[in-house]
Amino acid sequence: MGRRIIGKNGDVLIREFNSEDAAQIAALANNRKISRNLTDAFPNPYTIEEARKFLARMEKQDPKTWFAIEYQGKYAGNISLAPGKDIYRKSAEIGYFIGEPFWNKGIATQAINLIVDFGFYTLDLVRIHCGIFSFNAASARVLEKNGFNQEGVFRKAMMKEGTVYDEIRFAIVKED
Ligand SMILES: CC(C)(COP(=O)(O)OP(=O)(O)OC[C@H]1O[C@@H](n2cnc3c(N)ncnc32)[C@H](O)[C@@H]1OP(=O)(O)O)[C@@H](O)C(=O)NCCC(=O)NCCS
Repeated sequence: MGRRIIGKNGDVLIREFNSEDAAQIAALANNRKISRNLTDAFPNPYTIEEARKFLARMEKQDPKTWFAIEYQGKYAGNISLAPGKDIYRKSAEIGYFIGEPFWNKGIATQAINLIVDFGFYTLDLVRIHCGIFSFNAASARVLEKNGFNQEGVFRKAMMKEGTVYDEIRFAIVKED
């Protein structure tokens, strides 16, 4: 499996996944404090089998737009761009999580900076957006720290674990 490095900022690096990531993905992703902020496609519980299935999908992805985040040489989380189709093909949705032991070290902030550059200058996108649950203050903060602007609130747009939430939409465009 590829180990191509997409970018590096100090202690934070983003790279393609490899099969040795499975155990650490399962260890960090199996956490309701992470899954409760993400779509239902993100499993909870997150088993090693789920991690292996995920890595098999990643191996086939072409072009690759989902990456592992490393902090000081250790796998610490995932970050992705999901480019749109048809008339939305110059836009992408960003997604990310950091394993709880690595929170509040600036890792998401640096990783977002790296993937935004990859999106604008390698994928030639013009816009990157993110929709977050209204309660996710840490995610709002890392987007704002990277120059994303709040564009609006989609009232009652998201349902998670039986509760309906407002979605806050953030975006950055290349000329920002
Ligand atoms: C959101 C997340 C990616 C942040 O990762 P991180 O590496 O800890 O982020 P950073 O250290 O770069 O920055 C965190 C910022 O949020 C702030 N923050 C953390 N928890 C917060 C909270 N509960 N309320 C308000 N701000 C908070 C920190 O103080 C920091 O801001 P600062 O630099 O101004 O002090 C991580 O918490 C996570 O993976 N959460 C679960 C998954 C998720 O929410 N993914 C995003 C879905 S849209």
